[in-house]
Amino acid sequence: MQTVRVGLLGLGQIGSGVYSILTRKVRELEAQCGVRFEIKKVAVKNPGKKRSVKLPRKLLTANAFAVVRDPEVDVVVELIGGVREARLYVKEALRRGKHVVTANKALLAEYGDEIFELACQRKCWVQFEASVGGGIPVIKALREGLVANRIDSIHSIINGTSNYILTRMSENQMDFKEALAQAQAKGYAEADPRLDIEGIDAQHKLAILLRFAFGGRVKFDQIDCEGISRIRSEDIAFAEEFGYRIKLLAIAKRSDDGIEARVQPTLLPKEHILASVNGSFNAVLLRGDEVGDVLLYGRGAGSRPTASAVVSDLVDIAKRGSGRFADAALMMRAVRSSLKIKSTSSILSRYYLRFHVTDRPGVLSQISKILGDHAISISDCVQKIRSEGSVVPLIVLTHAAHESDVRDAIRLIDRLKSIRGKSQVIRIESGAA
Ligand code: HSE
Repeated sequence: MQTVRVGLLGLGQIGSGVYSILTRKVRELEAQCGVRFEIKKVAVKNPGKKRSVKLPRKLLTANAFAVVRDPEVDVVVELIGGVREARLYVKEALRRGKHVVTANKALLAEYGDEIFELACQRKCWVQFEASVGGGIPVIKALREGLVANRIDSIHSIINGTSNYILTRMSENQMDFKEALAQAQAKGYAEADPRLDIEGIDAQHKLAILLRFAFGGRVKFDQIDCEGISRIRSEDIAFAEEFGYRIKLLAIAKRSDDGIEARVQPTLLPKEHILASVNGSFNAVLLRGDEVGDVLLYGRGAGSRPTASAVVSDLVDIAKRGSGRFADAALMMRAVRSSLKIKSTSSILSRYYLRFHVTDRPGVLSQISKILGDHAISISDCVQKIRSEGSVVPLIVLTHAAHESDVRDAIRLIDRLKSIRGKSQVIRIESGAA
């Protein structure tokens, strides 16, 4: 029986889940994969702290370097999150010839180039299935199942917290803060939840997907990013009236002049396959030139789903062994060529616009004139009547318009005396599936 000796960094949500699977499913893993996993050491900030998992005190250390430098550790599993320290430990492990499994999307989005480069040099594996889509095997699908394809587009919901919040706001009329508090209590949110609600977590994940789906380096901050923090319950309700759901989408599309890549709240027609992905579920809709559309769906956050992905990475490493570095070509391509990300200002799209206006004669004509002057054509328009002279919401749906024209028009509209507050602008996606 092959034994793989594991050093675990971090025993939070995911770390506890991994420890639990590796200790509960010893027989199943041996029977299915012919591998025995032995946890040699676990690094935690505070070894004295009470924990949900029971483990021998002697396994615990506060010194993460003692784990990555331990000659008896074959694979380091980095689950501490954050970037600065995780980067040091991962690189030290690779320098010492140890394979690495990580769920750290921020680390790979920001320092993927140096980490994958080092892994190639040291002929070590860096496995990161848990970094995107929680328990969904999307990285494996890209590396293996879809390898015969050129990937032409990705439409994805890859932040469980945002999706949970939008679902609760839509189905339970819950307010944003309460929904976020629930997502935190369920262990979906990042330690700093701004990463979730400002879209940055999805931006990190899309950068990782792009690297392996489209084959090349990408600077994650070139991906346009907007989160859900400005979405109001009224936007969800108005979108519903027009036949749409609001989802935080991470989108990438290939074209002759580069790749369009963005993370943003999006109106999706209710019948779109991603519109019914709810709660903490994630989904990745990939379009390959041979296979057509493939939808991967599953729990995108939480201890057990994410731990499931980490354990599958461990099994992969055990099966491949050190000698067969067959993935090197794919890694090299993902590190050594660069992807050209297009500016989103040239992108054509339909838009949902929501203004708060004082209900006076002439207001609508002022707004429609500015839109017309910017070549933006209105497809639907609804004003919610209260009493004359009061502030009312005015919703405009547009035909396809250039993003730069829409931004310029909104800047002018927001300066009108009759406009209250900042107007809402959300793209409408009507494309694939
Ligand atoms: N905070 C992340 C999310 C966790 O909500 O999707 C999974 O990466």
